[in-house]
Amino acid sequence: MLEKRSGVFFIAGLFFFGLAFVSQAVVPILMYRDQPEKTAEQLVNPNVRFQMEDLAKRFPESFKEAFGDIPAVGPEREAWLNQRCADALRIGRKAYTGEACWHCHSQFVRPVSNEDRRWGPVAKAEEYQNELQRPVMFGTRRVGPDLSREGGRRSNDWHAVHLFKPNSLISGSPMPAYPWYFEGSPDKPNKRGLSLILYVQWLGSWLESYPYYEDYKASPLRSPDARRPSPAIAVTSEGGKP
Ligand code: HEC
Repeated sequence: MLEKRSGVFFIAGLFFFGLAFVSQAVVPILMYRDQPEKTAEQLVNPNVRFQMEDLAKRFPESFKEAFGDIPAVGPEREAWLNQRCADALRIGRKAYTGEACWHCHSQFVRPVSNEDRRWGPVAKAEEYQNELQRPVMFGTRRVGPDLSREGGRRSNDWHAVHLFKPNSLISGSPMPAYPWYFEGSPDKPNKRGLSLILYVQWLGSWLESYPYYEDYKASPLRSPDARRPSPAIAVTSEGGKP
């Protein structure tokens, strides 16, 4: 076999296949085997909580109908909002999977082609170690932009109008309209609509470089040992900021 060049290539091919399997599958499994998977409740962070409260302010009637009355003050309010936030993330993710948004949007910033300049920090394995990434939403096509750092990049209003009718904001957009997440107009999102917007706002909200905007105020939930903020990342996606 080794007297022919093709035989050498064949054996080398098998060797490299084995090497790739060990380095890309076996080693990561062994490395992350003992890491607990985060639940939706554990994924609620100050940034996504800010968006939840912002949705309640912008769409008060829809929010009330979807999630009920927010308790007035105190720890009860915090616990209530955190739980509703986790519930909404689960519902939103279900809608995202069900609508096959992943068919056109990836959720993975690759360490090639300067992707980090366009979309933000390169994806890390730990970001996918949670309930909302089962199965992972990496996606295989990019008809639209990568969404893994979409959170905070646009306002909730923008998302509502865009989801209702993408063409009204981006002329010629091939993204389909999703009117069934609204009661007739973009200012009346229903429970699944609010949840889907919250889910999109959650994407990347765990990063230090979450792009703050408008009248963002750090939530009191921010832990005192929060790591220092890093400089904002350059965002050069088409369309720019709202
Ligand atoms: C047929 C492909 C396609 C599908 C399916 C699709 N999108 Fe899009 N999406 C696009 C394209 C193309 C753009 C860029 C043009 C635009 O903004 O409309 C886009 C843009 C977006 C943006 C704005 C990104 C930014 O900041 O510029 C968001 C958010 C988004 N899509 C979310 C979704 C969600 C949520 C779903 C599922 C309910 C979905 N998309 C389904 C193609 C798609």
